[in-house]
Amino acid sequence: MQSAKAAPCQHLKKHGAAPNPDFIEAAVSGPLDRFAGRHISHVTLGWDQPGPDGVVMRSNDYLSLAGDPRIARAKAEELLAHGHGDAISRVFVHDRNDAHRAFEHRFAELLRAEDAVLAMSGYNANTGLMQAFAGKDVVVYLDHRAHASLWEGVSAARARAIPFRHNDAGDLARKIRHFGPGIVAVDALYSTDGHVAPLVDIVAAAEAGGCAIIVDETHSFGCQGPGGAGIVVELGLEDRVHFRTVGLSKAVAARGGMVVGSACNMEFFRYEAFPMIFSTSVLGYEIAGFDKTLDIIRDEPWRREQLAVNQRFLRDGLADVGYDVTRSDRQIVAIITGGFEDTVFFREALAKRGIFGSVFCPPATPKGASLIRFTLNCSLTATDLDRTIAACDDIRRKGSTIGLASRARVRSVPGGTTRNGPESRSN
Ligand SMILES: Cc1ncc(COP(=O)(O)O)c(C=O)c1O
Repeated sequence: MQSAKAAPCQHLKKHGAAPNPDFIEAAVSGPLDRFAGRHISHVTLGWDQPGPDGVVMRSNDYLSLAGDPRIARAKAEELLAHGHGDAISRVFVHDRNDAHRAFEHRFAELLRAEDAVLAMSGYNANTGLMQAFAGKDVVVYLDHRAHASLWEGVSAARARAIPFRHNDAGDLARKIRHFGPGIVAVDALYSTDGHVAPLVDIVAAAEAGGCAIIVDETHSFGCQGPGGAGIVVELGLEDRVHFRTVGLSKAVAARGGMVVGSACNMEFFRYEAFPMIFSTSVLGYEIAGFDKTLDIIRDEPWRREQLAVNQRFLRDGLADVGYDVTRSDRQIVAIITGGFEDTVFFREALAKRGIFGSVFCPPATPKGASLIRFTLNCSLTATDLDRTIAACDDIRRKGSTIGLASRARVRSVPGGTTRNGPESRSN
C-alpha cells in the first residue's frame, strides 16, 4: 500500500499507472522530480540542438558510414528478397551455411581468430561473455574504467569483481598475486576519454598470474590496426588474448555485437550464454548490412587514414592553444572540465560557437572529473576542426581556465586568480 510520506513524483501521475512503492518512488524522484518528471539528461540534451553550420562531434560513426546508401540498399534488398528470416534465438540457428555463420567466419578471419559469435549488441556480448565464463568462485579483475557492460556481466555471473587502477598493469599484477587466477577485463580504447590500454603489459600480467583476458575492442574495431582489425592485432597479441568483444554500434554504425575467441570457447559461448539462449538474434537483413559495411571498411582505407589525420590535427591544435589533451589518443579527444558547473559552462560556451561534443559526468566519470568528449569522424573538414580549435581558444582568451594544461593555466591566469571576463570560470 502507498505510504503517505515520501511520494515526490506522485503529483506527476495522471492515469493508467499504479502507485509506486516507496523504494521505487525514492529511486525515480531524485533524477526526475527537479524537472517536472523529465530526467536531467532529457532536459540538458535538449539545450543545444546544432544548426546547419554546427560542428557535431558526438556520434561514434567514426567512418561516416551511418547514412551510406550502399549499406541501406544491401539491407533493403535482403529484406525484400527474404523478409526478416527467423526471429529466434541464436541457439536455434543451426544451419552451418547460413548468413549468421558466414558472417561469424568472416569476422573471425578479419580479427585473426579461430571463431566468432554474433550477439545482439556489444552490451549483450560483454554481459553474456562474463555470465558464461565467470561464476561465483571466479575472480574478475576489471580496469576501474572498463565498460559498464563488463561490470554488469560480473554481477550476472555472481562472480567477484576486483577493480584495478585504470591502465595500471603493476596494480593488476599485485592484485592477481593476492587474489589468484581469474579473468582480466579491459577496454582497448576507453570510450570516455580516449585512453589506450597498455595491452602488452596487461597481457603479460594476466599471463604471469594464469588469468584469461577479455579485451573490448568496441571503439578500436574498424579504426585501428591492420584493415581495422583492432589494437590486439596491431600489437600482435591475438594468440595471447582469450576473448575480444566488439559492439557493432561504432565504426560499423549498426546494432549488433561480436565475441571472438578460440573455436572451442566460441562453441560453448554460442550455446551456453544466456543472451544467446533467451533473446532473439539479429535478423538476416541486418547481417547483409554488416557485410556491406565490412566490404567498405576493407575497400576504402582512406576513411581510417583520414580519421587518423583528423584526430592528430585536432589534438595538436588544441594542445597549441593550451589545452591538456595528453590523456586522449586516437579518435576520441576529451577535455576534462571538472565539476558540474564548469562542464555546463564549457558546453554552453562551445554550443554558442557552433561546436557540439558530448558531456560525460558521474557515473560515467569519477566525481569532479566530468569532461566534454569530441568523437571524430573521417568526414570532418579542416574548416570544422579549425573552427573547433578557434572556439576553444576564444573561450580561453575570454578568461576560462577549464581544461587547460597546467602551464597554460598559469599563463592564462596571472597571479593564480581567474580573470573576470564575461565568460570566465575556473575549474
Ligand atoms: C567500450 C564499449 N563496450 C560495449 C559497448 C556496448 O555496445 P553496444 O552499443 O553495441 O551495445 C559500448 C557502447 O556504448 C562501449 O563503449
